Order: sequence, then structure tokens, then C-alpha cells
Amino acid sequence: MVKENIGFIGGGNMGEAIIKGLLKANVVRANQIHVCDIRKERLAYLQKTYHIQTTEKIGDLVGNVHIIVLAVKPQDLGSVLEEIKDKITPQQLLISIAAGISTQYIESFLPEEIPVVRVMPNTPALVLAGMSALTPGEFATEEHLKVAETLFKAIGETVIVPEKLMDAITGLSGSGPAYVAVMIEAMADGGVKMGLPRPVALKLAAQTALGTAKLLLDTGMHPGQLKDMVSSPGGTTIAGLHIMEIGGIRGIIMEAIERATQRAQELES
Ligand SMILES: NC(=O)c1ccc[n+]([C@@H]2O[C@H](COP(=O)([O-])OP(=O)(O)OC[C@H]3O[C@@H](n4cnc5c(N)ncnc54)[C@H](OP(=O)(O)O)[C@@H]3O)[C@@H](O)[C@H]2O)c1
Repeated sequence: MVKENIGFIGGGNMGEAIIKGLLKANVVRANQIHVCDIRKERLAYLQKTYHIQTTEKIGDLVGNVHIIVLAVKPQDLGSVLEEIKDKITPQQLLISIAAGISTQYIESFLPEEIPVVRVMPNTPALVLAGMSALTPGEFATEEHLKVAETLFKAIGETVIVPEKLMDAITGLSGSGPAYVAVMIEAMADGGVKMGLPRPVALKLAAQTALGTAKLLLDTGMHPGQLKDMVSSPGGTTIAGLHIMEIGGIRGIIMEAIERATQRAQELES
């Protein structure tokens, strides 16, 4: 249980996912959560759904909470930092989930030695199955990281990495849901081609991806070992795998992650 109040600046998709996860996991009580958003209807929805405190004034939020989660789009972050820089104190903790924004950039707005933790979550956080990478800024301690870790464990798994790896994280787990979605769609297309109704094919493909990931994570089995388990001599799976290898699927996926990482490096500020 986290004892301090938590404030979200930005109550959009990701802000809501974290709030939902925190409440579901009983990490905080609803009366400890504050959210500030420029959309009135969004605040009304969040208040009604989660019974949390809402405000349109950033100043009110910053004055009421110990932990501040910056959950606005990256292009809105600069103006939010300008607004909070004179109100925030080193006793508070600033957590940013803005993609591609470095702790150094955030710290450059802040006059005092404010602890900052940067987090890169991913979209499955919306169903509490996210993968978040955390990295400390210059003034964040082990204790700050632990608090941030507790929050993000409520919406999935976490890893702590040095900031120089954040672009590769973006290329793998940040962009990854799109790659897995394409693979699931392609598997479903294959099923449809072979005569399966679309909804059945999609369910088979998605549950197979989910189940395979769970099997690997729960057992710690190497993916190659699982592949060998499924591929009987002269059987159906090895026939399919042969086609995948001819198409160079492994190299293509590795290249996709390399390219996405490079793109993250180009966009980073
Ligand atoms: N969604 C993901 O899967 C994902 C994954 C990794 C990281 N992230 C990061 O998470 C952050 C939030 O993403 P999101 O998808 O949740 O975005 P979102 O749904 O657009 O939510 C942001 C909310 O903040 C509001 N807002 C904008 N300026 C504000 C201000 N000055 N004060 C208070 N509220 C303000 C927005 O209102 P308006 O719509 O009117 O601008 C919107 O309601 C982004 O930085 C993104 O990079 C998201």
C-alpha cells in the first residue's frame, strides 16, 4: 500500500489505465488519487467511475499530492512543466510516462533538485497486462524507484533499466503490441484462407499468442524448446516453420525492432 496521495496530470487512456490498476490492486484508496485534465467531461467520467478527486487546476493538484504522474501527450509536456516548476518541491516525486522525453529534458525545466522517474509503459496496460520500463533521473533514489515500481506493478510487469536503453525498450515493448497484433491478424487470415470463419480464426490466433506467452513466462522455458516440443518429425508444424524460415521471419522481426529503436533515437528529446 502506498500511503501518499498521487496526482495525475492528464486523465486520458494511460492515466485511466494506471488509476484502474492501482484501485484494482488495492495499492491506494480512491480518496488518495487526484487527477487534473483540461477536459471537463473526462474529469466527470473519471470522478463518476472511480470516485477519485478531480480538478481543472494544476496548482490545486500539485499542492495536494506527494507523487505526480505526468500523463499528457509528449507535445503537451513542456507547457505542463512550465506550469508546475515553481510549485513542485524536492519532497515530491515526479513520474513521467511521456514517450521519448528524457529525464534530462524534464529536469531542465525544474529549478530545484526534483526527483524524476521516467517510465515507458505499453498499451496492454489498459487491460492490466502492461510491460513498463523504469529509469531514474539524476535526483531519484532507490526509494523513489521502489515507489514508482509499486505503482506500475499494478498495471503489469516492470523492469528497471539505464536511460540509454529506453529507445530500445520503445522499439521492443513500446511498439511490440503492434507487431504482435499484425502477427495475430496474419495468423487469422491464414485460418480464414483455410476455411475458418473470421471470428473463430481471430479467437484461435489471439488465444494462441496469449497462451504461448503465458507458458513461456510461467515456466521459464526457452522459446526454442517450446518450438521443438510442438514440432514432431515429419509433422504439420515443422512444415509451417519451414515456410516461415524461407520468408526470413526472424530477420524481419529483428530489423523491425532495430528500425523502431533508431526512430525513437531520432525523435528523442
Ligand atoms: N497510450 C499508450 O499506449 C502509451 C504507451 C506508452 C506511453 N504513453 C504515454 O502516455 C502519455 C499519455 O498518453 P495517452 O494515450 O493517455 O494520451 P491521451 O489519451 O491523449 O491523454 C492525455 C490527456 O491529457 C489531457 N491534457 C492535455 N494537456 C493537458 C494539460 N495541460 N493539463 C491537463 N491535462 C491535459 C488531454 O486532453 P486533450 O485530449 O484535450 O489534449 C487528454 O485528456 C503520453 O505521453 C504517451 O507518450 C502512452
